[in-house]
Amino acid sequence: MALRITVIGTGYLGATHAAAMAELGFEVLGLDVVPEKVEMLGAGKVPMYEPGLEELLRKHVEGIEGASGRLRFTTSPEEVAAFGDVHFVCVNTPQKHGEYACDMSYVDTAFESLAPHLTRPTLVVGKSTVPVGSAARLAARLAELAPVGADAELAWNPEFLREGFAVKDTLHPDRIVVGVASERAEKLLREVYAVPVAEGSPFVVTDFPTAELVKTAANSFLATKISFINAMAEVCEAADGDVKKLAEAIGHDERIGSKFLRAGIGFGGGCLPKDIRAFMARAGELGADQALTFLREVDSINMRRRGHMVELAREAVGGDSFLGKRVAVLGATFKPDSDDVRDSPALNVAGQIHLQGGQVTVFDPKGMDNARRLFPTLGYADTARDAVRGADVVLHLTEWREFRELDPAALGEVTSRRIILDGRNALDSELWRAAGWTYRAMGRPTA
Ligand code: UDX
Repeated sequence: MALRITVIGTGYLGATHAAAMAELGFEVLGLDVVPEKVEMLGAGKVPMYEPGLEELLRKHVEGIEGASGRLRFTTSPEEVAAFGDVHFVCVNTPQKHGEYACDMSYVDTAFESLAPHLTRPTLVVGKSTVPVGSAARLAARLAELAPVGADAELAWNPEFLREGFAVKDTLHPDRIVVGVASERAEKLLREVYAVPVAEGSPFVVTDFPTAELVKTAANSFLATKISFINAMAEVCEAADGDVKKLAEAIGHDERIGSKFLRAGIGFGGGCLPKDIRAFMARAGELGADQALTFLREVDSINMRRRGHMVELAREAVGGDSFLGKRVAVLGATFKPDSDDVRDSPALNVAGQIHLQGGQVTVFDPKGMDNARRLFPTLGYADTARDAVRGADVVLHLTEWREFRELDPAALGEVTSRRIILDGRNALDSELWRAAGWTYRAMGRPTA
């Protein structure tokens, strides 16, 4: 009989994983502690914007017409324990308030609520991003709490999906990494991932600490790459160079590669910033903090980019202050094709300008509800055109396709000053300049 799979935590990682497991042919039960979320998902609705996810969910959720019926949701850990052969823990590990370390309380609670109900041999698989050493600790706790004892085994299987590409990244991962302590665990995970492996995804088997570290190392590398190119942008600005050309040219070297070299206002989101900080905190606990001091610099270059955009905006509105100035902000999410505004560079810049007295009006294609909740005091408009109306300066801060497709000539009709600062180096400078705009990007010559 096919394996029965459960997914604990149905945020964007868990909801995607659950739908993907159903797509791979397994019977799946998703668990969340929030009843409203369970209700929504059970009705085939996704509580966040993620391209393709709702379609995948509706293809499998029990009770939806034409669906496979392989996917259900519940709030009951007892039901989950009785149902599953393999349990994936997908809860999040946010940054602790005012600290670098991440908050493990959701992971701990997930284990504490599931383990006492595990009465037959089972595999619990951690997917959350955790400080190295957590898996060993949780394996011991599992064996202690589960009635079945050491037959409730643990494996660690970090997740590398990107928001905006979550479905594709889950069904066709670049690689599958599993940290295991037994052949049985490896065998079960090979069964779970048989289809993507047959389709070419490499399957890397390792121990717990290495599996945990692969995730933080990968995100640290990506963050470093972005801050490297942003440091080059700073130098380009001082030397009148063009960071976009520079990135293109160094990217042709296959050892460097062209991806993740887009200079701008830097990285944000629920992963990269908190992961590098949690990594530094954990290295400190392990006495290895010197190995990661460079990440402090990566973080500070990144944060400097936001401040630099605020400075460029201040210059654009006349130099002294934002008082009485209208600032249009295009973009609120931390990246396009997502409604996620966690640690969003765009909203951070908007918030700083607002605090300095500017009249900020934000528009984002999908992130408005979340932005309003997080920054209720900013102004919001229903369209890009309305946000730009009467603006002293326009800031392009999240590179949605919709913004690249704006018609600068038509937009120029609603603002007389026509200054645009491209915080993502993503707009067509010639097009904007030809339509009479002063276009300025980051790390590139001014005209
Ligand atoms: C990241 C990792 O890519 C993913 O593998 C991991 O599982 C979770 O964290 P995500 O947070 O969805 O994924 O976004 P990502 O595409 O990595 O972008 C992160 C941030 O970096 C965004 O704010 C983006 O705008 C910024 N970025 C990305 C740049 O500023 N320049 C670049 O060249 C690339």
